[in-house]
Amino acid sequence: MRVTVASDHAGYDLKKKVVEHLLAKGFEVEEAGALSADVPYDYVEAGIKVAEDVASGKSDRGIAICGTGIGIAVVVNKHKGIRCGTCTNEYMARMSRCHNDANVIALGARVIGYQVALGIVDAFFEEEFAGDRHAVRVNEIKALEEKYFK
Ligand code: RB5
Repeated sequence: MRVTVASDHAGYDLKKKVVEHLLAKGFEVEEAGALSADVPYDYVEAGIKVAEDVASGKSDRGIAICGTGIGIAVVVNKHKGIRCGTCTNEYMARMSRCHNDANVIALGARVIGYQVALGIVDAFFEEEFAGDRHAVRVNEIKALEEKYFK
């Protein structure tokens, strides 16, 4: 599985932890976004990279990190084919997969600690989409995309 992980400056340190964690688990990782915690880097640019990689099929999943996990989630959700939730605990990560078939999660580096973040990341990859009634709802979301997104 190939994963794009990108952050702004606020998410840089957590991004490095997440990348290290995924590489240790055998994932193929595309790292993008901020090159340092000290030099401002817009979460918009980082989010676009994650979304474009996943929407194009270059990566299977994405992890988008900023200070709150909110701004970058807004950005990635502006892309057709992307379903991203900001997760602050493992339950949210599991449900984002199980109920929403999320292909990206957003993390807030100023909100959660490293251990919680890595637990969220593991849950995101462990959980499967449940389908059934949830597939009906995800298909409704896809229909919205057809209506409003190019
Ligand atoms: C950067 O200061 C901060 O605004 C950004 O990381 C994020 O929290 C935006 O939603």
